[in-house]
Amino acid sequence: MLILGGTATNGIDQRLSERTGYRLLKVEHKVFHDGESYIRIPAKVEGEDVIVVQSTYPPQDKHLMELFLMVEALKDLKASRVVTVVPYLAYSRQDRRFRDGEAVSIKTVLNLLRYSGADSLVVVEPHKPEELHYFRGEVRVVDPMPVVAREVMRVVRDPLVVAPDRGALDRARRLASYLDAKYTYMEKERDRITGEVRVKELPRESVQGKEVVLVDDIVSTGSTMAMASKSLLSLGAKRVIGVVIHSLTTGDVISKLREAGLEEFLCTNTVPSEAERIVDVSDQIVSKL
Ligand code: R5P
Repeated sequence: MLILGGTATNGIDQRLSERTGYRLLKVEHKVFHDGESYIRIPAKVEGEDVIVVQSTYPPQDKHLMELFLMVEALKDLKASRVVTVVPYLAYSRQDRRFRDGEAVSIKTVLNLLRYSGADSLVVVEPHKPEELHYFRGEVRVVDPMPVVAREVMRVVRDPLVVAPDRGALDRARRLASYLDAKYTYMEKERDRITGEVRVKELPRESVQGKEVVLVDDIVSTGSTMAMASKSLLSLGAKRVIGVVIHSLTTGDVISKLREAGLEEFLCTNTVPSEAERIVDVSDQIVSKL
């Protein structure tokens, strides 16, 4: 078994290699003047099982294309099995046609990955596990919540776990189960054209005086977390801690979250981040290899 570290791994390839003892190969890579990517597999892979590690954080399209190039090259070079570890899977939020005529982007991404030759797919906290059925190969889902909960316990003692929308309810339930805490969710509405977010208030008595852990899969513009945090604090929450698995933020967004009253912001290393608390999910991934 070999590990091929791609062009966007945030160090997870190295960690998987250290933990498993599998040899790590680093892909050879450059970008031509006109923007096209060049990929070369720098070793013989014939007859080998290869684990390709490639997260698909921004620039998503580039990182996806480079993933397809690596997988197809491995298959052409007669690798016997290609396992793709994609810690953050881009396009997962566009899993259906919200408006007539829209592309179901995640379906296209997963079809292309399969057609490139991937035999199996390992993803950390997909937006919705059901959407992975578009990948017509073996799928393994990594639950980061046990290690996330360990870190949360360093910060709060008796939390109430809140999902900022109904879609994150299962996430809140899983995190709460590891924290032995209660959980609930807020109703969120997003204008599909302007992107504007509105959240409906929870009953005051359910959050007053509580240490709230707000949990979501992705933070991007920060609007969801910021609106939810402001609402919870205005209802008398004692403090609000933000937990996201994939932080697609820049420093500006982290400042926006601070201004919205988030006391701490915790995320994982599926995406490079400027957050102050970053949880390593490599051990959770190893358990799925
Ligand atoms: C949406 O369904 C996701 O789970 C997140 O709530 C969303 O992507 C967060 O985006 P933003 O930070 O831009 O509000």
